[in-house]
Amino acid sequence: AKKVRIPHLQELKDRGEPWPMLTAYDMYTAELFDEAGIPVLLVGDSAANNVFGYDTSLPVTVDELLPLVRAVTGAAKRALVVADLPFGSYQLSPEQALATAVRFMKEGRAHAVKLEGGKRFAPHVEALTGSGVPVMGHIGFTPQSEHNLGGYRVQGRGEAGANLVADAVALQEAGAFAVVMEMVPAEVAKQVTHELKIPTVGIGAGPDCDAQVLVWQDMAGLRRGRSPRFVKRYADLAGELSGAAAAFADEVRRGEFPAPEHAFH
Ligand code: KIV
Ligand code: NA
Repeated sequence: AKKVRIPHLQELKDRGEPWPMLTAYDMYTAELFDEAGIPVLLVGDSAANNVFGYDTSLPVTVDELLPLVRAVTGAAKRALVVADLPFGSYQLSPEQALATAVRFMKEGRAHAVKLEGGKRFAPHVEALTGSGVPVMGHIGFTPQSEHNLGGYRVQGRGEAGANLVADAVALQEAGAFAVVMEMVPAEVAKQVTHELKIPTVGIGAGPDCDAQVLVWQDMAGLRRGRSPRFVKRYADLAGELSGAAAAFADEVRRGEFPAPEHAFH
């Protein structure tokens, strides 16, 4: 199968065909999602919450994320792999952003990077795109700013909607190839999607974005507990896995595993 490239994603927007994106943090998921036809895999800094068990995305480091990116790029044959720049690894300056992006491209073999922020980060985005690094923007609710935003809250309501549009346009003008919009009113996301030439990727941003993204453990029901409104569970992996572990434990305790066919003689 042919590799997914950025112009292909643009063509999907131009043809009005919505496309899916999922996070992936390891080899098996990358392989499975790639084979399932997911064109873009994001090694999100949400690995903080969904791999490392931190309570926010802020603590995760470049050194923690790089091996995950390398695992995903090594396993995906077709998908475009986007690496998230974690908190603190790009905000200082466009130069810092470029240095970090270069690590993700060289050591992680990522095809593109993603960073959070609007207008204020246009110089950072420009430094990357001007140096050959494709950039996906991320606006609306940006988890790296959760302490500043006062928690998980919808962004861009009312008057703030105009700022969101301006942020999206600034990212496009800086050369971003797509923009994620997280937790924004569907009406605002629709307007941004119409005003931008480049694709928008929604998460909690309604049905009118050009693409939709979910964290895979949310999508597959591996993460338990209450999910945000924008999550849909397409499987019960938590139930499947805990059932498998309990069945294994049970068979070992009863002396049923291993059976004769599992032993060497
Ligand atoms: O880190 C992440 O998983 C993300 C997506 C939810 C867009 O940034
Ligand atoms: Na992220």
